[in-house]
Amino acid sequence: MATHLIVLAAGAGTRMKSDLPKVLHEVAHAPLFVHALGSAADLSPERRILVAGHGADAVKKAARSHDPALDIVIQSQQRGTAHAVAQAREAMAGATGDVFVLYGDTPFIRPETLRAMVQARRDGAGIVVLGFEAADPGRYGRLLLRDGRLERIVEYKDATDEERSVTLCNSGVICADAERLFELIDRIGNDNASGEYYLTDIVAAAREAGLGTAAVTCDEAETMGVNTRAELARAEALFQARAREAALGAGVTLTAPETVHFAYDTRVAQDVTIEPHVIFGPGVTIESGARIRAFSHLEGARVAGGAVIGPYARLRPGTDIAERVRIGNFVETKNARIHDGAKVNHLSYVGDAEIGAAANLGAGTITCNYDGVFKHRTTIGDNAFIGSNTMLVAPVSVGRDAMTASGSVVTMDVPDGAMAVARARQQNKDGFARRFMDRLRAAKNKDRI
Ligand code: UD1
Ligand code: CA
Repeated sequence: MATHLIVLAAGAGTRMKSDLPKVLHEVAHAPLFVHALGSAADLSPERRILVAGHGADAVKKAARSHDPALDIVIQSQQRGTAHAVAQAREAMAGATGDVFVLYGDTPFIRPETLRAMVQARRDGAGIVVLGFEAADPGRYGRLLLRDGRLERIVEYKDATDEERSVTLCNSGVICADAERLFELIDRIGNDNASGEYYLTDIVAAAREAGLGTAAVTCDEAETMGVNTRAELARAEALFQARAREAALGAGVTLTAPETVHFAYDTRVAQDVTIEPHVIFGPGVTIESGARIRAFSHLEGARVAGGAVIGPYARLRPGTDIAERVRIGNFVETKNARIHDGAKVNHLSYVGDAEIGAAANLGAGTITCNYDGVFKHRTTIGDNAFIGSNTMLVAPVSVGRDAMTASGSVVTMDVPDGAMAVARARQQNKDGFARRFMDRLRAAKNKDRI
């Protein structure tokens, strides 16, 4: 049966104190709404709709770059969660199956939890609500059960003291029969303490319409929403804690897990070792058998097995590191393919480059890739030996088995097997240094007298 997704993200997020719409604040380098979408990715939703309002232009732009297939609908006035869902009516026309409503600021709902909700739908409920036992129920909506069945939801503002004493709270996530959702939404009014159209009233509406309703529960940690910067920081910490546990569980060695920071999409294979204080930006894949040494920073890079990166290395987007490559300390790579067994061990910049297998780049090798306007490529052949402190002024190529003399500024292509020397020839002036220093010292002593 088809699954669809409506993510609510029109709210102002006032408590973030930010010009950026709340759902664009990031956890592990991905906007909050991307995490919400990720919870449901396992269910391969057919239609995915984001309801935007505050900062809709910025949300649209971010959505296009992260997920071009996402359908954005606009709720121009925030008149409540049911009103927000109603904005998705056209985008959902003719849809059948299950539709989930998630909040864009709630990043941690687990796929297993959503699957349990789908199961409750299969068991006959038209509306399934995700609840949780709250340690401190505060101002959450309360789930009211009768004979073990979900009867209705009451918002805190509208609840009696007795209802407020209920600790089973509403997470906000619902799963509904796609063919009945909007008909039920139409039954919802705004005669309540906030004058808003509450999505929570869909439970009572479903019961009136003779549909079954059910509550599924999850751990409170999953329903954590982000409303403030402090909660954003807590969400980041929670994400990292989970990512570290997941990596350890998947056979990755982390010598100091609490110092390693993953991105939302970091992929690390079994038998990778990650030393302390390693930071992953987006788009990194580390293959089995690689070692990432301490204090390295990686982003948009693939590292193959047997490679050793760092300590203190920086891999930037477009880096592709083949088997057994060595990238040493204070080496920066960008848009660079480095083939099997090549070595870039010390103090280098390798950008817009292809480095052949088993090539060796000496300390201080720099690809001068940028002329102030355009970027140019450097190609180095297999087995080449680049002398220390070589400047490779791109576009330029060094052939296979070729060498450059250290200190060279290489501006012309170097043929296979050749040696390029591109620096001033050395002269030795016999006795010059002593005579020169004697003269300076004599001049200094004369001044003192
Ligand atoms: C909502 C629930 C409450 C639940 C709580 C869990 C309702 C009426 N109440 O309350 O039962 O315990 O979440 O956190 O649903 N939004 C829109 N448009 C609107 C209003 C809200 O897009 O017009 C979005 C917000 O951006 C947010 C989400 O819906 O992502 C929830 O809205 P919010 O106002 O925070 O609901 P709560 O009052 O917290
Ligand atoms: Ca809220």
